[in-house]
Amino acid sequence: REDPNQALYELHNQAARIYHTVLTSTEEGVRAREYLLERGISDEEIDQFNIGLSLSDQDFLYQSVKTRFEEDVLVNSGLVTFAENRIFDSFRGRIMFPLNNEFGQVIAFSGRIWQPDDLSNKQLAKYKNSTTTPIFNKSESLYNLNQAKPVIKKTHEVYLMEGFMDVIAAYQNGISNAVASMGTALTAAHVRRLKQLTEKFVLVYDGDAAGQNAIFKALNLLEHEDVDVVRVPEGLDPDEYSKRYPDALAALMVNSRLAPVEFLIDYLRPENMTNLQSQLDFIDLMAPKIAVVQSLTAQDAYIKRLVEILPDFEYNQVEQAVNLRRQNVIEE
Ligand code: GTP
Ligand code: MN
Ligand code: MN
Ligand code: MN
Ligand code: MN
Repeated sequence: REDPNQALYELHNQAARIYHTVLTSTEEGVRAREYLLERGISDEEIDQFNIGLSLSDQDFLYQSVKTRFEEDVLVNSGLVTFAENRIFDSFRGRIMFPLNNEFGQVIAFSGRIWQPDDLSNKQLAKYKNSTTTPIFNKSESLYNLNQAKPVIKKTHEVYLMEGFMDVIAAYQNGISNAVASMGTALTAAHVRRLKQLTEKFVLVYDGDAAGQNAIFKALNLLEHEDVDVVRVPEGLDPDEYSKRYPDALAALMVNSRLAPVEFLIDYLRPENMTNLQSQLDFIDLMAPKIAVVQSLTAQDAYIKRLVEILPDFEYNQVEQAVNLRRQNVIEE
């Protein structure tokens, strides 16, 4: 029997083909490709990631597909919007990043603004995502999982990134096992799916404050997993870093990994370290996290790192706090 969603998949695949053709062979596409090229994305990546362009016209997509799909399919896809007395494309004037499911079918899009007028318009969202549909739920989908899957299995690890551009930058730097969530935080559903492919997670989020907060949240979700953290320097995101320092991104992702505790010591470290209470609170915060680390050598190193930054506490005192938590771990 035919999958009831077959028409939705078909529509998304045709839309992706249309958007891709618009980018690669129209006048507006020439300018969009200039924007992409300025961002380091050439025809190779445009093909590899099937990047496209939605025209600024009111209903170019609708006109291109309306004879081939029932109206309810068009409505359900969210790609076309039916208002009271007019019909218009939901994505207009955006560079289109298709999202595939694991069978390679296109199930959604994310569109980025790129024209100078749009870029200076503070009202416009930088990225617009497909709405939830019978074939797309952004809390379960991961950008590039389709292409990354075999490499994740082979290398036994997956890189988690924030943005599409970061995944593409990693690819340009020879790293093909990177995925990104669709503009949302990592979810339990994402983790469940990835755990079927690998046990090792490497977080490479943006180097800005938002990215560091996202790492903290992801670490809570990945509490029982094998995780490394890569901090991108100078507040840059991975894409910006790879443009500023050609060829440095792969080395950073492979060689500059922190254990979660190392990241947390820095992330949770209080502003005011002279205050005794804030030092005590910090010890309380870190002790349970150190106590659950498998290697005693690593625990020792983390305690030393803490002692280095705590003006009023010595090794034994911090170790004692950790030991107390170890007892709790054993009793639980
Ligand atoms: P570029 O500016 O194209 O390099 O994007 P970025 O990936 O660096 O974007 P940013 O770090 O600001 O955000 C990370 C991710 O959040 C993006 O890849 C999107 O998935 C998502 N995102 C960013 N801006 C928006 C927005 O305005 N709306 C929605 N829905 N998602 C967004
Ligand atoms: Mn092509
Ligand atoms: Mn960001
Ligand atoms: Mn970013
Ligand atoms: Mn970016």
